[in-house]
Amino acid sequence: MNAKSSASAETVGMHFEDQILEQGDLISKKLHLLSVQRFPPNAKKGLRSFTLAEVAAYVGVSQSTLKKLHLEGKGPSPQTSSSGRRSYTAAQMLELRDYLDAHARSDSRIYVPHRRAGEKLQVIAVVNFKGGSGKTTTTAHLAQYLALTGHRVLAIDLDPQASLSSLHGFQPELDQVPSLYDAIRYDANRTPLAEIIRPTNFPGLDIIPANLDLQEYEYDTPLAMADKSTNEGKTFFTRISRALAEVEDRYDVVVIDCPPQLGYLTLTALTAATSVLITIHPQMLDVMSMGQFLLMLGGILKPIRAAGAEVNLSWYRYLITRYEPTDVPQAQMVGFMTTMFHEFMLKNQMLKSTAVSDAGITKQTLYEVERAAMNRGTYDRAIESLDAVNGEIASLIHQAWGRRVVG
Ligand SMILES: Nc1ncnc2c1ncn2[C@@H]1O[C@H](COP(=O)(O)OP(=O)(O)OP(=O)(O)O)[C@@H](O)[C@H]1O
Ligand SMILES: [Mg+2]
Repeated sequence: MNAKSSASAETVGMHFEDQILEQGDLISKKLHLLSVQRFPPNAKKGLRSFTLAEVAAYVGVSQSTLKKLHLEGKGPSPQTSSSGRRSYTAAQMLELRDYLDAHARSDSRIYVPHRRAGEKLQVIAVVNFKGGSGKTTTTAHLAQYLALTGHRVLAIDLDPQASLSSLHGFQPELDQVPSLYDAIRYDANRTPLAEIIRPTNFPGLDIIPANLDLQEYEYDTPLAMADKSTNEGKTFFTRISRALAEVEDRYDVVVIDCPPQLGYLTLTALTAATSVLITIHPQMLDVMSMGQFLLMLGGILKPIRAAGAEVNLSWYRYLITRYEPTDVPQAQMVGFMTTMFHEFMLKNQMLKSTAVSDAGITKQTLYEVERAAMNRGTYDRAIESLDAVNGEIASLIHQAWGRRVVG
């Protein structure tokens, strides 16, 4: 190894900032190399096909109905394996919904759940300033689940660390994609939001990737607030909702993955939100930290509301993440929280599972990996827990639209 590309004893005499600059550069170059090998820059993330059972569950019809449609040559035509197993692409699942609405609709059942006149765009902010509370995992699985169940979804990665983006195949350093910062910046270089949005490997799911520029918003906002010549800084909290208004006709739900800090990015997301998910790992230190987060957040939101911000939530919920029900202290902590906040807790919890963390290692979610690639029992338990959490959130969204049935 040469002296330039590795930390060596020679760096000992250097200033700390020079050392960390060199080491940061070293890490990003090596990671660059690794990701280019694993995921060539031009490679696009693909998406597996879905089994008859999965399609039946996501679309909300019986497997026999699907088989019958196929045999009668109606709707999209699935792939059939040599053993006769049918599978559909995610795009075909959406086509099926269109077909069913056009041909098999009963009054009580709507297969394409897009919002209709009078139903407001739902903007869900996923927050907690505790790092590792499951924000990104929750956002990714929720956004993908909503897309798989027929909604038009926009996911926003608001964390300069860009974990949600990399789960969707965007690597900010390599791809040099713009981030939401370009649409909410205070200077004249603002870009229309539509130009920043990227499609993902999930039909129905678009993303606004993150990059390190987002951090600039934290420095720009106090400067803009101090600038007496304009009102832009004083109304910083409207910047995301204003940007979203440019594209709102294209979507039903926006899900925002917030950074693990209570800065201006998180506050701006919260004031754009129609609902909030607070992710919490049920351990004493995490719950204590969340208590501090709530106190600080409440304290900050009060003057912001007084300054004209609209914080009008349809709902907010605590979501227990990485839960191990057999761990007695964790179960007690869930009991403790449920006693205090009962109607504000999601009834379903996100269970801790090696299926989720293993999928994460290869930058995938559980909706992307094949069941056959994992221990089936482990996969089934994990997907059941994710579907239950996401299904409950979908119901809250539909209730906010004034619908009674999840369609
Ligand atoms: N249900 C789960 N089962 C197992 N591992 C999980 C689960 N949920 C999240 N993890 C793992 O825990 C780690 C932290 O999760 P995640 O990145 O979603 O948290 P975060 O709140 O977004 O973190 P940060 O604050 O750094 O943005 C990740 O490695 C993730 O794979
Ligand atoms: Mg995260």
